[in-house]
Amino acid sequence: MRVVSGIQPTGNLHLGNYLGAIRNWVAMQDALEDGAEALFFLADLHALSQPHDPAVLTAATLEMTAALVACGIDPDRSVLFNQAQVPLHAELQWLLNGTARMGWLGRMTQWKDKAGKNREGQSVALFTYPVLQAADVLLYQATHVPVGEDQKQHLELARDIAQKFNNDFCTEDAPVFTLPEPIIPAEAARIMSLRDGSAKMSKSDPSDMSRINLADDADTMAQKIRKARTDPEPLPSEEAGLAERPEARNLVGIYAALSGESVAGVLRQFGGQGFGSFKPALAELLVETLGPIRARFVELKEDRETLDAILARGAAKARERGAPTLAAAYRALGLVRH
Ligand code: TRP
Repeated sequence: MRVVSGIQPTGNLHLGNYLGAIRNWVAMQDALEDGAEALFFLADLHALSQPHDPAVLTAATLEMTAALVACGIDPDRSVLFNQAQVPLHAELQWLLNGTARMGWLGRMTQWKDKAGKNREGQSVALFTYPVLQAADVLLYQATHVPVGEDQKQHLELARDIAQKFNNDFCTEDAPVFTLPEPIIPAEAARIMSLRDGSAKMSKSDPSDMSRINLADDADTMAQKIRKARTDPEPLPSEEAGLAERPEARNLVGIYAALSGESVAGVLRQFGGQGFGSFKPALAELLVETLGPIRARFVELKEDRETLDAILARGAAKARERGAPTLAAAYRALGLVRH
């Protein structure tokens, strides 16, 4: 079993990032048996597919690395790196460009959504992004790829590319690539804005009160929960009672995600109580779970030397893990190398 996944580096990390991909990765890492390995990387090369600011990309890559380690990705157990230090990704992408079809890429919904009506004006990188993503996982013979629902189609494309390459260039008993399985979490908690229960919690919301930042101190976190928008009703005892109450649903959802309980379980405990008693309980739970992460995060974020060392060591391991597959792909294609 080999787990591989990537995340695009963004700054201003918040509770939604933690309860989304990051916590899921940590759980997978911790559940691995002896002999199995996970590789997690910052997909910094993917950032070139859209207009970007180089200084912001550098800062976001380092900040995201600090967050991953603070949240529990252990660089001694997992291989943690950024793509840019492992040129094998870009190399393999070029080799796979011969196998991927224009039609396959043209059907990617993410391409269609992001390009909109202006396809001619998009970068080539935005169109070929899924081939790089395929290279990211095929390079390491990934068997399991934890991703959000929105990445399922890209994983299917990776399988199609692997299969066609194996078919076209390999004998049946010696395929170069393993077909990866997407692992999609059953119920990903959707964390919404604290000011508006119908908008996702987002780093780009102009109001800082709308989100819990990973870097917020305990008082700030508690204050944001205290001021979070709610309605005047007490909490219902059953989930159905949250249907028309997006703000209440969000706070209960956050409580459930942090405590590991179901929404129904949280309501069994708090049903009938008002926000006057629920909010302090939520604030306490939040500070208890995020407090230690926050402390490690703010310290590491400023420690460039340690971050550089973590990424360099991870990249060296990644190059080692990927080299045999890349060599096999060159060979299968008839490219002459020593
Ligand atoms: N495209 C993914 C996203 O936007 C990030 C990503 C890049 C990725 N390469 C990957 C995810 C390889 C899994 C495997 O979320």
